[in-house]
Amino acid sequence: MEGNVRSYLIAHLPGDGIGPEVTAVARDLVDQAGKQHGFSIEWLHCPLGSQHYLRTGEVLSDEILNDLGKTDAIFLGAVGSPSVPPGVLERGLLLRLRFELDLYVNLRPAKQRAGVDAVGADNLDLVVVRENTEGLYAGAGGIVHRGTAFETATEESLNTRAGVERCIRYAAGLAKRRSGKLTLVHKTNVLVHAGSLWKRVADQVAAEQGLQLDYCHVDAACLYMVSDPGRFDVIVTDNLFGDIITDLAAALTGGLGLSASGNLNPDKTGPSMFEPVHGSAPDIAGTGKANPVGAVLSAALMLDHLGEPKAAAELEGAADAVLAKGGAASTQAWAEALAAQLAHSEVAR
Ligand code: IPM
Ligand code: MN
Repeated sequence: MEGNVRSYLIAHLPGDGIGPEVTAVARDLVDQAGKQHGFSIEWLHCPLGSQHYLRTGEVLSDEILNDLGKTDAIFLGAVGSPSVPPGVLERGLLLRLRFELDLYVNLRPAKQRAGVDAVGADNLDLVVVRENTEGLYAGAGGIVHRGTAFETATEESLNTRAGVERCIRYAAGLAKRRSGKLTLVHKTNVLVHAGSLWKRVADQVAAEQGLQLDYCHVDAACLYMVSDPGRFDVIVTDNLFGDIITDLAAALTGGLGLSASGNLNPDKTGPSMFEPVHGSAPDIAGTGKANPVGAVLSAALMLDHLGEPKAAAELEGAADAVLAKGGAASTQAWAEALAAQLAHSEVAR
């Protein structure tokens, strides 16, 4: 803890609903982990979200985006509010950050943890590598003949070779560090154009890296995730399929409240962004009931990405230990139990 203290600048975007409640717990634990492991965090408070938008008419200014680009990491709560039309904050803040910071991998681990009531078969321990800047999320398409009987809406999935390849290369690297098994999830029997590109690139990368590549259609992948999840280790898939199957993985491992994600710039040419998979949950905001574990596990992913793997492992270990003891009944009780457990891991070291 002495000597050159490592220091990181992290933007904290609490966002809407339960976002501020859960990220406050995670932020305090990150500070505590820093004290225990010899680094410190300078938090840059960025109150973006529905209130900022309703007050200023602005979702994310170029100036704030520029400041965010200079940080070491971004820690986001949740965006979305019933008082703002759907899509405004999601596209204007979350997706804009993913796209403009080129966070091309959305990393979503899912595993069954002791003490958590899970559904489905009990051998689920996988990581979904979701492409995060292209596909149906790219915003290509439009509406013509609006309001007429011939109104036509199109939504095009954009898949570039470069975009597909960099995502698959990241997944392949991760698979090599885990079990060596990579599964491509797509729908090549129907989406023959995008599917062909994904499959050819995945075959090429896997052959080059000496990796075993499995392929699974997305519908079958949903079935196997429930009935036989042990067949998966690292899954790589496109943006929309990844969005959908990671909610399923979350449900199978105890719910969205426990699920973590990292929007990564794997090349580390700029910050990556970490956020729990859950949304702003306006129905329980302010009740003190929100479960901060998804945010805490996202913070652990952030510490790992920043190059603090021991602190990351201890934070995840603290969450595991509290879950194994049955968890806690309120956000505050979670915060206290997690802090005590994290302090204990220092003693146990
Ligand atoms: C997620 C969310 C977002 C997505 C929404 C809020 C835009 O569902 O992070 O999974 O679709 O990516
Ligand atoms: Mn989602």
